[in-house]
Amino acid sequence: MNIMSKKYRIGIIGLGVMGQKYLNALTASLRWELVWVCDLSHDLLNEVNRHHPKVKTTDVCQQLFDDESLDVIGIFTLADIRPGFIRQALAVGKHIICEKPLAASVPEEKAVLAELANSDRFVAVNMFNRNAWYHEEIQQFIQSGEIGSPAIITINHQNAGMMPTEGHGPEGAPFHDCGMHYVDVARWYASSEYGQWHAQGVKMWSWPEPWWLTVHGTFVNGIVFNITQGFVYGQLAETRINHCGIEVIGTLGVVRMEHDFHEVSIRYHGINHTSHKTGPYGDKKIDVLCERFAQSLDAGKNIGCPTPHDSVIASEVSQAMLDSAAQHAPMIGTQAEMQRILKFRK
Ligand SMILES: NC(=O)c1ccc[n+]([C@@H]2O[C@H](COP(=O)([O-])OP(=O)(O)OC[C@H]3O[C@@H](n4cnc5c(N)ncnc54)[C@H](O)[C@@H]3O)[C@@H](O)[C@H]2O)c1
Repeated sequence: MNIMSKKYRIGIIGLGVMGQKYLNALTASLRWELVWVCDLSHDLLNEVNRHHPKVKTTDVCQQLFDDESLDVIGIFTLADIRPGFIRQALAVGKHIICEKPLAASVPEEKAVLAELANSDRFVAVNMFNRNAWYHEEIQQFIQSGEIGSPAIITINHQNAGMMPTEGHGPEGAPFHDCGMHYVDVARWYASSEYGQWHAQGVKMWSWPEPWWLTVHGTFVNGIVFNITQGFVYGQLAETRINHCGIEVIGTLGVVRMEHDFHEVSIRYHGINHTSHKTGPYGDKKIDVLCERFAQSLDAGKNIGCPTPHDSVIASEVSQAMLDSAAQHAPMIGTQAEMQRILKFRK
């Protein structure tokens, strides 16, 4: 069989918001055969039976681990139960695609990472920005010398995202749950480890955890960064608006990207090249991840999937920033305002 036409057999655990995106990507791909879907919700499983009658469904994940025909297990539950599934998958020799973070605490993530290092199984963690065409293109522009030496990285990711009590409890407050992606992006662009930083948060609506955070500091190589992330952006605004993107100022030029979760807009202002490019945001790029994972299995080496190592560093650093900010974040607003927003969102 031509290796490029080999189909890999996968079973997925967790069919929530993310699991359904994987289901759609895997069933649309020529590289994958989705064999099993496991979730505790029978309503969700019934939907799968209706739309994908060839896919087997179960609420007992052991059935997936017992299926010797599977190449890969996808683990898309919340973080608290992910380590147990990772260990079970490794024990039966499966490759793994999983969601971030690897576990619900940094020490447990490090323990899992050490176990993965001792395994020959291939594991990818969905740090989705690393599969984004626009980040790859912007980095090529920077590497071509168009902006000189990168000096200042500014990242904004502010929208009316998940409110307190709405879910993702094990993942923690937004700067860890979501902000870890942007801590990873800044480190990826800087090609360096975090040096010193200061984090400021706001405990919006007097909720005890900061729901907004800004961090500025330097990487070990001297590049300066500022990351601002929060799910407090216009929660009850009559018309929704986001503030999301990245800007890299170099010694000679600048590149700036903004997106509204639908369209990406990039302004290249280099020494020889000026342009404005737009393109699709592409949601979580699950199709790209699944394709690259299949190609990595073909090649027997990672050809571009985000790694557990990068995910654990992003988790550890974002958690440290969040913990630091939590110590001195002011409380602003009222829990009555929070209840008003929650009621509106329902
Ligand atoms: N990479 C990203 O950009 C990104 C974005 C959103 C969420 N996530 C991560 O994805 C993960 C899932 O998030 P979500 O929003 O889809 O959550 P979710 O709550 O919508 O889905 C979790 C699913 O897991 C199922 N589940 C729970 N226990 C189970 C068990 N024992 N066996 C089988 N199924 C079980 C639940 O029934 C639910 O359907 C989280 O860890 C989150 O951090 C990543």
